[in-house]
Amino acid sequence: MIEEINELKKQKNAVILAHNYQIPDVQDIADYVGDSLGLSQQAAETDADTIIFCGVHFMAETASIISPHKTVLIPDLDAGCSLADSITADQLRAWKAENPEAVVVSYINTTAAIKAESDYCCTSSNAVQIVESIPEDKQVLFLPDKFLGTYVEMITGRDLNIWDGACHVHEKIGELNLGEKQKEYPDAEVLIHPECGCSTSCMMKSAMYFDCEEAHIHSTSGMLNQARESEAEEFVVATETGILHRMRKENPGKKFYPANEESVCEYMKMITLEKLHDSLKNNRFEVKVPEDMVEKARLPIERMLSIA
Ligand code: 13P
Ligand code: SF4
Repeated sequence: MIEEINELKKQKNAVILAHNYQIPDVQDIADYVGDSLGLSQQAAETDADTIIFCGVHFMAETASIISPHKTVLIPDLDAGCSLADSITADQLRAWKAENPEAVVVSYINTTAAIKAESDYCCTSSNAVQIVESIPEDKQVLFLPDKFLGTYVEMITGRDLNIWDGACHVHEKIGELNLGEKQKEYPDAEVLIHPECGCSTSCMMKSAMYFDCEEAHIHSTSGMLNQARESEAEEFVVATETGILHRMRKENPGKKFYPANEESVCEYMKMITLEKLHDSLKNNRFEVKVPEDMVEKARLPIERMLSIA
C-alpha cells in the first residue's frame, strides 16, 4: 500500500500534508508534518496539483481557501473538530452586532464561514503576535478557544472579549493531571499546548496547582522544537498524544510522558493509510469552499501569513 501511495502521488503530482496528531503510519508517509501554521504555509507554497490533507476538516478548508485552484482532498469527511464547532456564523454575527467597533480575531480552528466574518486569523504559534499587531485602543473579539484567549490576554496584558469555546480533548488536561505527573517525573520539563485547561492556571501564578515555573507553552511544532533544543532528558507533554510519535522519533535518547494518556482526538485518528490510499486513487473527498466565501475568508488568513 505504501508503494502504491507513493506511485499514485507521483502520477497525480500530489503532496501529502499531515498534522502532528496523525497516526504514525500517516505521519511517516507524509511529505510534510507540522502544526496549523506550517501546514497552511505549505498549502500556500506547494506547486503540486493536488493536496491530500491528513488532518481535520477546517485544515483542508483553509488549504482550499489559500489555494482555490488546487484540488484539496481529505481522506475522511467526518474528521471534524469540536473547537471549530463551538461557534456558528450566526452566533458570530450576533456578537459582532453587539460590538460593532471591535476587531475579530479567529483561531484557525474555525469553519470557512467564521473566517469569512473575521478580520484576522491566528494559530497557536502566532496568536500573541497577531493580537499585538492590533492597535491597543481597539476592542478585540477573540474566538473560539477560551484557554488560548486567556493565554494571549495574560502574555499581552490586553483585555480581550473571549468566546466561551474549548476543545474537548485539551480542556480535560487539567491541573491535577499535571500535578500528578510532576510528582511522578520530578526532573521532567513540562510542555503545554495553550488549548489545555491547565495552561490558564499555569499562567495564573497566584492560583498555581502545580509548579509551572519551568513550563513551556507552545503550538505543537513549538513543543517539538523545544523538545529538540532542550537539555532536559525527560518531558511531560500536555497535548494530544499523537505528537509523541514524532517527539520520540526525533529524540531517541529522551523520554516523553503524556500528561493524560486519554488525550486522543478521535477526529484526527479517523485518517488511516487505507483511506489515504482510497483518497488518492479515487480523488475523494474534495473540500471546496464556495467562491464568494473564499474571497472573504482569504483576507484574514493572508493578513495572518503576512504578519507571522
Ligand atoms: P497546532 O496548530 O498547535 O498544531 O494545533 C492544532 C490543533 O488542532 C490543536 O488541537
Ligand atoms: Fe479540534 Fe481538539 Fe481535535 Fe485539535 S485536538 S483537531 S482542537 S478536536
